[in-house]
Amino acid sequence: MKTDKATNDTAIMDKIVSLAKRRGFVFQSSEIYGGLNGCWDYGPLGVELLRNIKDQWWQAMTYREDIEGIDAAILMHPRVWEASGHVANFTDPMVDCKECKARFRADQLEDAACGSPAYKGRKAIKCQAEGKFTEARQFNLMFKTFIGPVEDDGAVVYLRPETAQGIFVNFLNVQSASRQKPPFGIAQVGKAFRNEINTKNFLFRTREFEQMEMQFFVKPGSDIEWFDYWRKERLQWFVDLGMTKEKLQWHQHEPDKLAHYAKDAYDIEYQFPFGWGEIEGIHNRTDFDLSRHEEYSGKSMKYFDDQTKERYTPYIIETSAGASRSFMAFLVDAYREEEAPTAEGKAELRTVLKFHPKLAPIKAAVFPLVNRDGMPEIAKKIEATLRSQIRVFYDDSGAVGRRYRRQDEVGTPYCLTVDSQTLQDQTVTVRDRDSMQQERIIIESIPRYLRERLAD
Ligand code: GAP
Repeated sequence: MKTDKATNDTAIMDKIVSLAKRRGFVFQSSEIYGGLNGCWDYGPLGVELLRNIKDQWWQAMTYREDIEGIDAAILMHPRVWEASGHVANFTDPMVDCKECKARFRADQLEDAACGSPAYKGRKAIKCQAEGKFTEARQFNLMFKTFIGPVEDDGAVVYLRPETAQGIFVNFLNVQSASRQKPPFGIAQVGKAFRNEINTKNFLFRTREFEQMEMQFFVKPGSDIEWFDYWRKERLQWFVDLGMTKEKLQWHQHEPDKLAHYAKDAYDIEYQFPFGWGEIEGIHNRTDFDLSRHEEYSGKSMKYFDDQTKERYTPYIIETSAGASRSFMAFLVDAYREEEAPTAEGKAELRTVLKFHPKLAPIKAAVFPLVNRDGMPEIAKKIEATLRSQIRVFYDDSGAVGRRYRRQDEVGTPYCLTVDSQTLQDQTVTVRDRDSMQQERIIIESIPRYLRERLAD
């Protein structure tokens, strides 16, 4: 039976998913055809939020002297995935229910629900105890396709299950083109695909998603120091973008649970309404990746240091964040329901997304208080001036209180209202999303006012 807290957490998650659809953050993929499981589309506001997250990551990672960016192809030579270990190891154990034919990850049966409509609410683990499941068999999570017109074994390619390999195979290209020396990193943002057996929890486990990965190449022996450095940096990134510190925690992988390539690994976990979940992994990958690519390609992946005349295979510290999972964590973390005063001085419930201004999809809204007396003309002029610099929204419909609520619900940090006083002294009110306080500023100072606050 669900506890009150669990029921409440499910209700909050349902509200967030419904807001995400209603206000154009996230839609189900191919919805008019009944949807495609594990795939989601980002709507007008979602694409802005996702882009802002990726831009913030890109700036934090590549606007420094020791990291370069790349954008590698999604399709790679199939030998890459043999070298990486994905062909042999990137599998999950799968079981089928002989009765209802539903498929489950054998290691995640505690949370799974029975697939039969006749047994609504029943746990899959119970069906397993009753012997309804087949023996577990390994299922490879990579999506396979074919390159060229002939669909035979020689034409198999995979949709990349991580962006990391595009970085490893380009290590020496980037190093020599940019004249970097270890320690230095290569960053990439892009799509990854995994044929997950069970997708779940909205954007948390999907079949198509985006990753923001950075591989930092260091001299063996300095890897532990850099691993600690990147752990601190990456946790701070989420905190600096407004994520609640108390809802973030570290999870260190047990030695027997480490991925085949890792010497040490920590996950940054966020406390979602459904429990703690990984949003980023920091891994000490040692020289595994470069050594394997050297072995499988027959090409040296070693770095030669001109000064010391040493030749060595760098160790790699990986920071691997999910852009889509970070999106979900930022969305969930920003979501609040709180009391707000109405124009009549009563209290009402407002839903507000308290995004960090750098992440907010719309930065400012402009309203004429009424649609007459020259107010719309002034408001339109303000909108036009701001539009070339930031994402703004013009709204002239309904009571101003309603317009505030609509902007709160999508996380717009500032609302500017042109009213009768504007006609006399060229000032507007600026209303702050979080404090709901208003102040008057002169029209001329609006761009500077917003610039200063949005850069915080
Ligand atoms: N290159 C290492 C790597 O890919 P991972 O722990 O498998 O490591 C890294 O994935 C991040 O990618 C995760 O922390 C998560 O944010 C995101 N991710 C992984 N699988 C995902 C999925 N099925 N749906 C959404 N995000 C996923």
